[in-house]
Amino acid sequence: MPIDIAVVPVAGRGTRLLPLTKSQPKEMLPVGSKPVVQYVVEELARCGIHRLLFVTGPGKTAIENHFDIDSELIDHLRETGKEELLEDLAFEREDLQYFYTRQRRQLGLGHAVLCAEPVVDGQDFVVALGDSIIGLHAQSTVVRTMTELFETAAAAAVIAFEEVPPEEVVHYGIAQPKGRLDDVFELADLIEKPDVREAPSNLAVAARYVFSPAIFDYLRNTEPGKGGEIQLTDAIQALIHDGGRVMGVRLPPHQARFDIGNFESYFQAFIEFAMADPDYGERVKAFTRKLLSGGDEVE
Ligand code: G1P
Repeated sequence: MPIDIAVVPVAGRGTRLLPLTKSQPKEMLPVGSKPVVQYVVEELARCGIHRLLFVTGPGKTAIENHFDIDSELIDHLRETGKEELLEDLAFEREDLQYFYTRQRRQLGLGHAVLCAEPVVDGQDFVVALGDSIIGLHAQSTVVRTMTELFETAAAAAVIAFEEVPPEEVVHYGIAQPKGRLDDVFELADLIEKPDVREAPSNLAVAARYVFSPAIFDYLRNTEPGKGGEIQLTDAIQALIHDGGRVMGVRLPPHQARFDIGNFESYFQAFIEFAMADPDYGERVKAFTRKLLSGGDEVE
């Protein structure tokens, strides 16, 4: 059966985005006209995912509310003659099933994925980090490429990668490719947030993974690593060291990752999405040009 379940970890506190994230989840921050997590769900739905399991934590109920069918709001829009706005709520009626479980202690990404085990229940599954959008307006199909590769290569895991500047390797899981580096490659090793001098490449884990349920055994045996947290990367490393076939897929250039985990990349994502907005993009661009030229440019 094709892979149709995705685990979306959203329990992190978003401390790099304070005070913005003090009382709202970073996954609900707007990027253009939608919250981050709606893009993530739309991307996954396009790639054949029908069941979504959010691993949530304190202060994250806005995410659950966002995907509910809000009959009261729908009635209100109808009664007040604003039917044209119903289109903006069409995502509520997508044929998707939502599940929620809580990560009751903040023990890291690996632990969050382990919390999904009882629901995933022996199936192959996708992991999509809830603070990353792949492709402009989430138009990426990389997850479909990854699930197909998972089957054809009989892999134990498939991971998306993107190239980052050397000074940034310290923020990511970094691949050591085995043999020739193509758009698809096998991993010889994976290291969480290495020092730039120890990094085996500049290929960084880009927030999308496919796993067989075997990963849960490795997660259960993973000791706290970088930052004292149970790292998903460390479990994947143990899987590779045990002879597991782990494949990497490089994000195509037009399907870059937008990271909503820190201010610089969040601001960049917002600007790019606003400029590409079908309704407002041209005017936003004209406004930006005017700002950059010190107000001299004609509108
Ligand atoms: C996590 C992973 C890291 C990965 C990154 C982006 O780090 O631990 O390996 O490269 O997501 O996908 P975090 O951003 O949670 O520190």
